[in-house]
Amino acid sequence: MAEKIIRTIGVLTSGGDAPGMNAAIRAVVRTALGKGLKVRGIRRGYQGLLNEEIIDLSARDVSDTIQRGGTILQTARCDEMRTEEGQQKAAAICKKYGIDGLVVIGGDGSFKGAQKLANLGINTIGLPGTIDLDIACTEYTIGFDTAVNTAMEAIDKVRDTSTSHERCSIIEVMGRDAGYLALWCGIANGAERILMPEEHDYNEEAIVADIQECRKRGKKNYIIINAEGIGDSMNMAKRIEEATGMETRATVLGHMQRGGSPTCKDRVYASIMGALAVDLLEQGKTNRVVGYKHGEYVDFDIDEALGMQKGIPAYQYEIAKELAL
Ligand code: ADP
Ligand code: F6P
Repeated sequence: MAEKIIRTIGVLTSGGDAPGMNAAIRAVVRTALGKGLKVRGIRRGYQGLLNEEIIDLSARDVSDTIQRGGTILQTARCDEMRTEEGQQKAAAICKKYGIDGLVVIGGDGSFKGAQKLANLGINTIGLPGTIDLDIACTEYTIGFDTAVNTAMEAIDKVRDTSTSHERCSIIEVMGRDAGYLALWCGIANGAERILMPEEHDYNEEAIVADIQECRKRGKKNYIIINAEGIGDSMNMAKRIEEATGMETRATVLGHMQRGGSPTCKDRVYASIMGALAVDLLEQGKTNRVVGYKHGEYVDFDIDEALGMQKGIPAYQYEIAKELAL
């Protein structure tokens, strides 16, 4: 059974960085200090934990960070943490540094690491930090709002040149195995097609036929938002150009989607989630994942959270298709 009296809180960011992580770190630090707790920042995610890259954090250390993209603690992916030996070492290091409660800001993978630490007696709280929006227990993840706005603005720019040249443009957005970024951009940018890994009826012949049909109806361009989980945008462009005779270009937006100053929403939600993580630890509620559902901030047992599934909302996807007429 984990010790529930919290005197020192550790905080780390793990997996892909996401705008708003700094707001969450700042909120953890200041809420904890406000309650008279000590805060330790762990640099470079689990890799940094295993390397004992652990620093004390003061209120001033997080000044001037809420508006900054990325993560001031740095982040990393760490294979050693996937091993039992690595997990035991990580738990021992938390104990060595007196970390009674650990706030892990990251995605599902990072939560699995936190779950393993929880099983080894470390009190953990997971905060959903990923631009992919692919965490089942929450409708909001830190960074998605900024990333989707960044992608939307970039796609608007591609559309301008696509219309001028009367081209088909395939724009590839991130999201790993999830299509949320693609779906939201597809609606926000008025795309003709959205290709997502969750879509089972993806059919290139149908796209070719639709492009030909749209040209007949006088459409000046044809925008395809392609999720990273489908990928292959460059080859797809060649095949579509060959089959339709319409000039086709592919743009892979890439890591620019992960950078930039967080939106107001990401700053505010991340701040509240950061503060809630500390409140939960103080109340003795540990091994939880924080989420946002039906207009409220919520928390779930980490095992329950990791066992949940979510998919693309079918109605949202239907609307996206209808609006592409
Ligand atoms: P995200 O947290 O954004 O989903 P990753 O899937 O890359 O990103 O996971 C981040 C890190 O979390 C990994 O590099 C690893 O250190 C840790 N991790 C992922 N899966 C596990 C697992 N099954 N057990 C322990 N640690 C894990
Ligand atoms: O999880 C965030 C994310 O940006 C995914 O959308 C993408 O698949 C992945 O991380 C890219 O990771 P890396 O920065 O290691 O290339």
